[in-house]
Amino acid sequence: MIKQAIIPLAGLGTRLLPLTSVFAKELLPINGKPGIEYILDECIEAGIKEVIFIISKNKMMIKKYFYNDNFYKKIIKRKRDPRIIDEYKKIIKYRKMIKFVFQEKPLGTGDAVLKAKKFIKDKYFLMLLPDDLIIKQNCSKSMISIHKRLKLSVMASMKVNKEDVSRWGIYNIKKKIDNKNFIIKSVVEKPTTKLAPSNNAVIGRYILPKSIFAKLLELKPNKSGEVHITDAIQSLINDDNEFIGHNFSGKYLDCGTMKGYINSNLEIAKK
Ligand code: UTP
Repeated sequence: MIKQAIIPLAGLGTRLLPLTSVFAKELLPINGKPGIEYILDECIEAGIKEVIFIISKNKMMIKKYFYNDNFYKKIIKRKRDPRIIDEYKKIIKYRKMIKFVFQEKPLGTGDAVLKAKKFIKDKYFLMLLPDDLIIKQNCSKSMISIHKRLKLSVMASMKVNKEDVSRWGIYNIKKKIDNKNFIIKSVVEKPTTKLAPSNNAVIGRYILPKSIFAKLLELKPNKSGEVHITDAIQSLINDDNEFIGHNFSGKYLDCGTMKGYINSNLEIAKK
């Protein structure tokens, strides 16, 4: 069973500057609700019991959001507003399942995941990138059910425009399992259009084996000084570990850019 999830939140958010110079993008409201709450709801519905948030000093606002008890207690005493009481209860419910872990420097998604090493108990865990919202279908839930059936690692995927491949991790297919699931041959982070092996992109949902931590420890940082999760995945594939690319059925919304963020609001408001 997959009971734990890691959510890396310690990146710089440069694509949303100047806003992210003072604000955590994961708290930005999408149709009135902070983006991170959509991600937590997806986890809860998928049966996740513990979520490890990887944050940094610059993202302390996220911890404060879940631990602002004095503030709520004072307001509730004064106003007795049922809406505020419900919101406070919801925050407490979320925080019971969150553990906060720090990444001192933004040295990549792989380095962020490595920070959670000592807390992961089972053979497999879920990892979600909070910029990637998937609505209309619980992607984590369907990935967990595929994992249960095949006992393999799984990555969410979708086809993207050939001109856009350099924004994603891109994989090519070794074998088709069915119309939605494929065994991955190899995966490469943000290739140029010329070098991309296909236009199958990895989206921010992963079921990863605990053995990935050993790979992350071995990896050398790339030219920009970062360790990517994709490189550790490729290293596991090289050792004959099978990974499934799962073409999810929900609708993907990119909240990591201003254009994508505005579009996400419009799409969710339409629902
Ligand atoms: P990205 O690199 O896509 O986003 O990281 P970013 O760093 O937040 O923003 P940009 O690219 O500068 O605009 C994907 C996810 O991994 C986390 C980020 O917080 C984001 O949720 N991350 C990234 C870390 O936790 N640590 C890192 O060192 C890098």
